[in-house]
Amino acid sequence: MMQHTNHSQDTDMAQIVVIGAGVIGLSCALRLLRAGHQVAIVARDFPTPFETATGAAINYTSLWAGAHNRWNLPTTPAEEREHAMARRTYAHMRRLVETNPECGVTFTTGIEYFEDPPEAYRALDARRAAELGFEAFRRHAPDELPEGVALGFEYRTWCANPMVYCMFLLRQFCLAGGTTAVAELRHPHEVFAMDPYRSAAAVVNCSGVGFGDDPAVFPTRGQTCVVANAVSATVTRQNADGSWTFAVPRGFDGGTVIGGTKEPDDWDPEPSPEVRARLLDRFAATHPAVLADGPYRVLRDIVGRRPTRRGGPRLEAEAFGHRRVVHAYGLGGRGYELSWGVAEAVLALLE
Ligand SMILES: Cc1cc2nc3c(=O)[nH]c(=O)nc-3n(C[C@H](O)[C@H](O)[C@H](O)COP(=O)(O)OP(=O)(O)OC[C@H]3O[C@@H](n4cnc5c(N)ncnc54)[C@H](O)[C@@H]3O)c2cc1C
Ligand SMILES: *[C@@H]1O[C@H](CO)[C@@H](O)[C@H](O)[C@H]1NC(C)=O
Ligand SMILES: *[C@@H]1O[C@H](CO)[C@@H](O)[C@H](O)[C@H]1NC(C)=O
Repeated sequence: MMQHTNHSQDTDMAQIVVIGAGVIGLSCALRLLRAGHQVAIVARDFPTPFETATGAAINYTSLWAGAHNRWNLPTTPAEEREHAMARRTYAHMRRLVETNPECGVTFTTGIEYFEDPPEAYRALDARRAAELGFEAFRRHAPDELPEGVALGFEYRTWCANPMVYCMFLLRQFCLAGGTTAVAELRHPHEVFAMDPYRSAAAVVNCSGVGFGDDPAVFPTRGQTCVVANAVSATVTRQNADGSWTFAVPRGFDGGTVIGGTKEPDDWDPEPSPEVRARLLDRFAATHPAVLADGPYRVLRDIVGRRPTRRGGPRLEAEAFGHRRVVHAYGLGGRGYELSWGVAEAVLALLE
C-alpha cells in the first residue's frame, strides 16, 4: 500500500530511491538532489511533530534523539573517519544557521564532565582541541567543577530540535523537486519492483533498525525525559560507573532533554519511573542552574532505539544486477552529528 505525493507517479522516473526518512535518509536525499540527481524517498515514517508522537513510532529513532554534537576524541582510524564526518556536519550546521535560521539548529556552549577521565581526555589541551576543530575550547579550573568531577571543559557546539530540523530537511527536499512515498518495504530490492521506481538506478538503504536482517545491528535503548526547564548549555557527565548524565536544550520551544541511559540489546519500549527520577536528580546535582526557575516541570518520558551496529556504521555500495544498493545505517548514538559526513560518503559511493 503506497501513497504518493505530487508528480512521482508520472513518466518522470526517479533515478535514486532513498529508503528511510530519518535524519540519515533525509540528509542523503537532499545531498543527492543538490548534486543533480533525481531523488525519491520511500519510508514507513516521515517527520511528524514530536508533541503528538506516540510510542508506536519507537522504531523511528530520529524522533526521539537529544540531539547535540558531542565531540569524541579519535584514537583509531575508524574513529578518525567518524571525527571527519562530525567536523563536516559541524561546518554544515554553522552555515545553515546563517542561511536558514528557521532550520531547528542552535549553537550553544557544550560542557563535558568526567568523574574518571580516559587518558586522551586528561591530555586534551587547547592546541590539540584546535587541531581537532573544537571552537572556543576552555578547560575548567578545579574550583568550577561539580562535586565528584575530576575533569571539565567546554567548547562551542550545536543542538538540534530533532523534528523541527527533520521537517526542515523534508521541506527543503520537496521544494527542490524531491518526491516522497509512504510505504513499508520487506526488502530494499522491493523498490525495483514498485512503480514508478522500476527503472531506478540505485537504492540507498537508510533504514535505521528497519529490516532487522543484518545480525550485526542491535538497538541501544535510551531513556530520557523532556522538561520545560531551560538550560543555557548542553552538559554531559560521564560517571565512574559507566552511566551518563546529560541535558540537551532543544531550542525552538522544544524544552530540554535530560538523560540518559544507553542499554545495548534492550527492547523494552516502556519508560521506567525510577530511571526518570534518577536521571532528573543526578542532573540537578551536576547542574543546579536547571532548577533556578523552580522545580522540574516534566513534559514526557522518551524511549528510543539507537540503531547500533557491531563494527560501526555500514557505508558501502553493492551491485544488484546493473543497479546499485548503497547502505547507510548503523549510526548508533551519532546519527545527527555524523549526518552530513554520511551524506557526502553516500554521494561519493554513487559517483
Ligand atoms: C535517547 C536518544 C538520544 C540521542 N541523542 C543523540 C544526539 O545527541 N546526537 C546524535 O547525533 N544522535 C543522537 N541519537 C541517535 C540518533 O537519533 C540516531 O543515530 C539517528 O536518529 C538514526 O537515524 P536513521 O535515519 O539512521 O534512523 P531512523 O531515524 O530510525 O530512520 C529510519 C527510517 O527508515 C524507515 N524504515 C525502516 N524500516 C523500513 C521499512 N521496512 N520500510 C520502509 N521504511 C522503513 C523508517 O520509517 C524511517 O523513516 C540519540 C538517540 C536516542 C534514542
Ligand atoms: C519495532 O521493531 C520490532 C523489531 O523489528 C518489532 O518487533 C516491533 O513490532 C516494532 N514496533 C512497532 C511499534 O512497530
Ligand atoms: C538494509 O538496512 C537494514 C538496517 O535497517 C539491514 O538490516 C539490511 O540488511 C540492509 N539491507 C540489505 C539488503 O543489506
